[in-house]
Amino acid sequence: MNEKLFCLEKLCSDVISLCKDTGQWILREMEEIDQKDVKSKGLHDFVTHVDKSAEKQLTKGLHKLLPFDVGFLAEENTVNREDKKYTWIVDPLDGTTNFIHGVPCFSISIALCEEGKTLLGIVYEINRDEMFYSWGNGKAYLNGREINVSQSNTLNDSLLATGFPYFDYSRLEKYMEVFMYCLRNSRGVRRFGSAAVDLAYVACGRFDGFFEYSLKPWDVAAGAFIVQQAGGMVADFSGSNDYIFGKEIVATNNLIYNEFIDVIKNVFD
Ligand code: IPD
Ligand code: CA
Ligand code: CA
Repeated sequence: MNEKLFCLEKLCSDVISLCKDTGQWILREMEEIDQKDVKSKGLHDFVTHVDKSAEKQLTKGLHKLLPFDVGFLAEENTVNREDKKYTWIVDPLDGTTNFIHGVPCFSISIALCEEGKTLLGIVYEINRDEMFYSWGNGKAYLNGREINVSQSNTLNDSLLATGFPYFDYSRLEKYMEVFMYCLRNSRGVRRFGSAAVDLAYVACGRFDGFFEYSLKPWDVAAGAFIVQQAGGMVADFSGSNDYIFGKEIVATNNLIYNEFIDVIKNVFD
């Protein structure tokens, strides 16, 4: 296939099929997983053979879909990381801690970027069989239905999500300051354990806003794109665009963005 000739809509639908197959395989594997299968990559950072095999299945499938020189940025390093014009950014299992404890919230997250611009994004929440996706300059979808961010226009009317720091405590105090502000000034704060799902939930309006630090590109690339395509806002903690590689992200609907980013900026600046 010539690199100029692929159709994003068709590619998105093929990646969806791939995610479904691998997702159902992951679900079957959950029945078998045992604590002895759990390996530590760092402080409170775990991996299993399921993460690695899922990544191999996905990257093999993605390579077949775009069989020219495309780079991969995949969490478990089962493929060479190389800078190319096009790059697949892959988290084969976002929410590994949930997975190894049998907590039913984890996902597959895949984005395709062209020189830093995201072309498509897919987040598949496996347990609920919910496929969130978007491509090109189009709309965002959940299982074939168009989705949009919520209409809440104050933090006080918002349900927020976050990820608690679990290995990088360097900004814990500032994080707690924002967290406490949110507890006092919102409908509540949820911690689901899959950043990709948190972002997908902002995109479809279940959550009004999300923030977390120390995330990696594969946690956020697909979800952030889907939020934007669904009409939302995504930024780093200073309100700039370095949220994929910058290890800090805030995502909201378009109405509470200014209020929320001001709270975060005031604390983290
Ligand atoms: C993790 C999840 C979690 C977030 C962590 C991530 P993993 O990804 O997204 O919600 O709080 O920071 O590392 O390790 O399960 O792929
Ligand atoms: Ca992840
Ligand atoms: Ca992962």
